[in-house]
Amino acid sequence: MSTILDYLGSDHRVCDNLFAASEEAVSKRNWEGASKLFGQFHHAMERHFAMEEQVLFPSFEAKTGNSLGPTRIMRAEHEQMRLLMQEMESAVSSHDGSIFLGMSETLNMLMQQHNLKEENMLYPMSDRALATERETLLRDMDTIDK
Ligand SMILES: [Fe+2]
Ligand SMILES: [Fe+2]
Repeated sequence: MSTILDYLGSDHRVCDNLFAASEEAVSKRNWEGASKLFGQFHHAMERHFAMEEQVLFPSFEAKTGNSLGPTRIMRAEHEQMRLLMQEMESAVSSHDGSIFLGMSETLNMLMQQHNLKEENMLYPMSDRALATERETLLRDMDTIDK
């Protein structure tokens, strides 16, 4: 039985690997590969955000009675990342490598800082606060569109 930290932490690694692969394709100007890999990365990120926003955060907020704390910051950071990913998607469509790589550097920084906050703080807090319903939560997250 895995923990929330294991489950979502390893999903961060999946997203990171797709991100690195799409960045590499862009830097080689392999636009066909870039478009495919960036599409996979974007989808994996949206799915990850959905697992957090639709399952984990509402349960955490209900359990702790706190919807103004860490989850509010995490949701706001998801929005920032969504905007960047939208712009990166158009950079891939228009084969603009320098725009893409400029934005991917910013996204990477945001993403790493965000993931560290979740892995060091929010996920361990959630594992403690939601210990009794953890199994159901993990199952609910797993059913979100792959
Ligand atoms: Fe997140
Ligand atoms: Fe996350």
